[in-house]
Amino acid sequence: MLIKNITLVNYRNIEKINIDLSPDVNLFYGDNAQGKTNILEAIYICAAGRSHRTHFSRELIRFGEESAHIQLIVEKEGFSDKINIQIKNNNKKGIAINNMAVKSINELFGTVNVFFFSPQDLLLIKEGPALRRRYIDMELCQLSRLYAYDLSSYYRVLRERNIFLKNKPDKIMMDIYDEKLVEYGVRIISERERFVEGLNEFADRIHRDITGNKESLEVKYIKNVSADNFYDKLKYDLKRDILYGSTSHGIHKDDLVFNINGINARDYGSQGQQRTVCLSLKLAEIEIVKSLLGQPPVLLLDDVLSELDRSRQLYILDKIKNIQTVITSTGIDDLKDKQNVRIFNVKDGKVF
Ligand SMILES: Nc1ncnc2c1ncn2[C@@H]1O[C@H](COP(=O)(O)OP(=O)(O)OP(=O)(O)O)[C@@H](O)[C@H]1O
Ligand SMILES: [Mg+2]
Repeated sequence: MLIKNITLVNYRNIEKINIDLSPDVNLFYGDNAQGKTNILEAIYICAAGRSHRTHFSRELIRFGEESAHIQLIVEKEGFSDKINIQIKNNNKKGIAINNMAVKSINELFGTVNVFFFSPQDLLLIKEGPALRRRYIDMELCQLSRLYAYDLSSYYRVLRERNIFLKNKPDKIMMDIYDEKLVEYGVRIISERERFVEGLNEFADRIHRDITGNKESLEVKYIKNVSADNFYDKLKYDLKRDILYGSTSHGIHKDDLVFNINGINARDYGSQGQQRTVCLSLKLAEIEIVKSLLGQPPVLLLDDVLSELDRSRQLYILDKIKNIQTVITSTGIDDLKDKQNVRIFNVKDGKVF
């Protein structure tokens, strides 16, 4: 899949841009706060249905305007698709694929596949479990509409259950909430298991490659509940849940653990080792998408090269050969030796 063109109107600090992207590397460079990440964010929304930075789409509308508009023209196997997203002041989105309105944001999934990599991803190991769950979810939502549906349904039921817990719940309603949580949760667990299997295959190979075969990498999925015990655990801790007004068991408590040569990288890894693990994990995503869809996602690298040493930079640049890539950076140094780079300068929401 290739992104041929992107048009943005009244999107954050961008009044209007219309850019033809190269099928190779596209570099958007410029000073801080000029609108580089805004462009990546808009592309990301067309793939994931929502921003990686905010839940409130109202924030995406240029100050003082009524609505923002994103248009992406993509090409897949010789056919081109046009995606239009209109973001309105009431946080709602109007979406159309090839001028046909679609009802649910879920219908976008699968039309555009992207891989998003930002410096925050290099904290994947160090930070709390929420970031690791997000890492799995961001990828799985793009790969499976059912997963995206299950995940949003799960969190909706979870929110409702938590409100219900605080208001002297009756047993019949509680049973309904619990059954629903288990129904969605069990499917999510099985998809996460499959994803981690794939990660183990690809991330270990990449990690060995980057470290000159000195380090192996193993990913463990730490399930908070299993398909067999989820319902019983909810019932077992109901009193506690009522006391705290929150649900203590479920897939919203899952985590991942990463072992380097069998030792927990979070507790014992050096900072450099931890960042390399994150890099391996991110690059494994590309391989997983390739193996499942038969083609790579479009790579969006947000200011990430400057965070890595030269050998890691070269490793990435080698990996992105023949994959359409959009990179942001404050300078052009990281890519100055590379050929086939289309260079755009971003200044005050305009692209030159
Ligand atoms: N809704 C909005 N309307 C107008 N401007 C906005 C809106 N939302 C964000 N901005 C502006 O967009 C700019 C940030 O853009 P962006 O995050 O793309 O910067 P960047 O070029 O990636 O910078 P950096 O190099 O620091 O990452 C900020 O100046 C911010 O004030
Ligand atoms: Mg930025």
